[in-house]
Amino acid sequence: MKNQKSTVDEIRERFDNDVERFSNLETGQSATMDAPLALEIIQQCAAANHPHASAMLDIGCGAGNFTLKILQALPGLNCTLIDLSKPMLDRAAERVTRATSGRVECLQSDIRDYRPKPESFDLVVAAAVLHHLRSEDEWRNVLQTIHAALRPGGTFWVWDMIIHETPAVQQVMWERFGRYLSALKGDEYRDHVFAYIDKEDSAASLNLQMRLAEKAGFRRIEILHKTAVFAAWMAAK
Ligand SMILES: C[S@@+](CC[C@H](N)C(=O)[O-])C[C@H]1O[C@@H](n2cnc3c(N)ncnc32)[C@H](O)[C@@H]1O
Repeated sequence: MKNQKSTVDEIRERFDNDVERFSNLETGQSATMDAPLALEIIQQCAAANHPHASAMLDIGCGAGNFTLKILQALPGLNCTLIDLSKPMLDRAAERVTRATSGRVECLQSDIRDYRPKPESFDLVVAAAVLHHLRSEDEWRNVLQTIHAALRPGGTFWVWDMIIHETPAVQQVMWERFGRYLSALKGDEYRDHVFAYIDKEDSAASLNLQMRLAEKAGFRRIEILHKTAVFAAWMAAK
């Protein structure tokens, strides 16, 4: 069917072949506006909030950038890394093992199927992955799973593409993102990024994400950063 979104297998295959692009800690993923700033804000806030954290989960870890950045501020964490893509996980495992004296556990899984032990993490990070969820029900289930996996006082950190609920605002923000991509690598690159987003992604509004987080039981939610169609937020258990 035309315009049908990518299947899980198609998404896995694309990321299997895109490891290099997600392996630069200085720039983060440059198709995302403000990627280095978001990495830094989440690192600083997570470390300030949890100076004595011992266990972190990175969902859709890619090549491990967010875990590596947080380890710079919180060395020695035990890290659990989850991703659909085995080549991404292999790269993340190699980089994260060099960066921590803690245990590193890797699991190839769809986040929708992951069932962690209750109350086993101080921090959960999900960067540029939840836009692959397709429905409110999937968001609800994943947020409940993450809430259950956190220890009391634990926190969840999100950086992702968002949409706006007001069409005119969405259009303005989307155009701003387009101008950013054109300035970065030209109009052809912008069209290429827009085409894979259209095929693959189904971003949720920031309002919806925060409403569902509250319903899942998170008691304190903060917006950390927003630029055009990207936002970072955190929620505490
Ligand atoms: C855009 S990359 C972001 C990687 C990393 N978090 C970062 O910010 O550098 C998204 C990653 O999520 C993984 N992914 C996509 N859908 C997933 C799912 N349903 N469950 C687990 N991982 C998924 C992809 O394989 C890919 O490595």
